[in-house]
Amino acid sequence: MRYPEEVIEEVRMRNDIVDVISGYVKLQRKGSNYFGLCPFHNEKSPSFSVSPGKQMYYCFGCGAGGNVITFIMEYENYSFTEALNLLAERAGVALPKQEYSPEARAQEDLKKNLLEINKLAANYFYYQLKHPQGKAGYDYLKNRQLTDDTIRHFGLGFANKTSDDLYRFLKDKGYPDSLLKETGLVTIEERGAHDKFWNRVMFPILDVNNRVIGFGGRVMGDGTPKYLNSPETRLFDKSRNLFGLNYARTSREKYMLICEGYMDVIAMHQAGFTNSVASLGTAFTSQHASLLKRYTDQVVLTYDSDGAGVKAALRAIPILKDVGMSVKVLNMRPYKDPDEFIKNLGADAFRQRIEEAKNSFLFEIDVLKGQYDMEDPEQKTRFYQETARKLLEFPEALERDNYIQAVSREHFIPYEDLKRLVNQLGSRLGSGPAAAGRRDYEEKSQAKRSPKKDKDEGNRQSQRLLLTWLIENPGLFDRIQGIITADDFVEPLYHQVAQMVFQGHEENALNPAGILNHFINDEEQYREVAALFNASLKESLSNEEQKKAFSETVMKVKKNSLDAASRHAGSIEELQRIIQAQAALRSLHISLDEGIN
Ligand code: UTP
Ligand code: MN
Repeated sequence: MRYPEEVIEEVRMRNDIVDVISGYVKLQRKGSNYFGLCPFHNEKSPSFSVSPGKQMYYCFGCGAGGNVITFIMEYENYSFTEALNLLAERAGVALPKQEYSPEARAQEDLKKNLLEINKLAANYFYYQLKHPQGKAGYDYLKNRQLTDDTIRHFGLGFANKTSDDLYRFLKDKGYPDSLLKETGLVTIEERGAHDKFWNRVMFPILDVNNRVIGFGGRVMGDGTPKYLNSPETRLFDKSRNLFGLNYARTSREKYMLICEGYMDVIAMHQAGFTNSVASLGTAFTSQHASLLKRYTDQVVLTYDSDGAGVKAALRAIPILKDVGMSVKVLNMRPYKDPDEFIKNLGADAFRQRIEEAKNSFLFEIDVLKGQYDMEDPEQKTRFYQETARKLLEFPEALERDNYIQAVSREHFIPYEDLKRLVNQLGSRLGSGPAAAGRRDYEEKSQAKRSPKKDKDEGNRQSQRLLLTWLIENPGLFDRIQGIITADDFVEPLYHQVAQMVFQGHEENALNPAGILNHFINDEEQYREVAALFNASLKESLSNEEQKKAFSETVMKVKKNSLDAASRHAGSIEELQRIIQAQAALRSLHISLDEGIN
């Protein structure tokens, strides 16, 4: 599976990034870059940039970025090899076939075969549903008010009562038992082979690239389990896929709706809410949250109105907030789920409820209130205390105050009283019953804005800025000659990149998009490096300000590098050298400031 680096580079260079991306996104030239609407998240004004010079793209909205190969990987949801193949073909580059290691080839083949079999199975189930033997399933779906269009759109199907007809169908196509086993669609035992799904309506689960990766099946009538899902396979990872996302990702709403189940997603899409998704037979995970974050930063939870649904919402809220989502919760009452709600009150009423959806913190307070008997003065007091404790979770005074206002308004607690309670609790440091809450609050606010963390981030940002500037204006290398080397980028990942950048410059072959290829196997590093080449200051600066910012950044990087060196100095002599360099830096500050004019 590993192609030689030269081959990857050749494919990349023969596919101009502007040409390729223009095929997917409408781009407009602005200065030396191109801009368009980001295909990786929903937005109304363009923050997706493509740089012909760097041969890279970067979205200032969602942080997606990379070179032409990763664009295809992300857009088409292809593996590296698949993307490389597409681009090689596009540019007429012949890829060496023998570079596949036998294991890698086997893995790729397995995945391809599993996708093929899943697709055959989905077609088979659909065929059954549309024929007399599938009447029970078809009637069931009709009864649930799904239109034929919806059934086709989602590729719904039916698994017969016969317990091995799918197995025989696939066997006839020539697939060996060993492979069929891996699909999770059949179980093969000594006594014979059986279909996993029978007498169920079938919901194919598609990945964002519309490939069938698994199935859910709902029993006819009241059997258990109500829904049976494909087991995890080479293709299907429940915690990384969301039902409906293949459609929802291209809906142009700013937010997404998250619900509990298959039928809810389908009913919502049918009613025009094509921005809804569900996690499948599993609780909402942080991987789900990161996946969604690539498309939106606002969600509305439309979980069931029963106890389980409330619990699921309470669990999902912090997970979503952790990735920076703004979260609201929709009130479904008096109905149980979106499917029922829409059937009874219609799409307009549902849209109205979306508009009225509640801020997730205020929702949490509502749930909390339900646990106390507000007629009882003691319990009522406890509710107030607990509310104050939760309000302390906002480290930012202004934000906290906004919430104090909202809570006092909603629950008829006099604002001044609530504020006093929060402040009292906040200042009762380390003693009394509020200690735990206080500690909680402190830990949280520390994690968010400890001065040390801010400083570290500041240092990293300087390193990012400097690398971006050097890449965009190679002339600046002369300015930092003798002051900054690759070793001054102390953040380990940045150091690795800086070495390649400096070496590239020396050899007159600076090539950011090529450097990015080195990180293709680690998604997190990859994203970070892409962002590294696209750091920028928010405001555009005047010429004077730019000069100042540049010299300040150089100083900051150097100072940070010397500070780090002094912490790790192995000998007195070394430390002395560093101290001298630090002293020299202070006078250099002035000369560089002037010298840059
Ligand atoms: P629900 O029990 O709320 O089902 O489970 P539902 O969507 O309202 O189903 P209908 O309307 O009765 O057909 C919500 C979701 O939880 C998962 C499924 O994804 C389901 O859609 N689930 C539920 C399972 O995976 N297994 C089960 O046995 C039950
Ligand atoms: Mn339901």
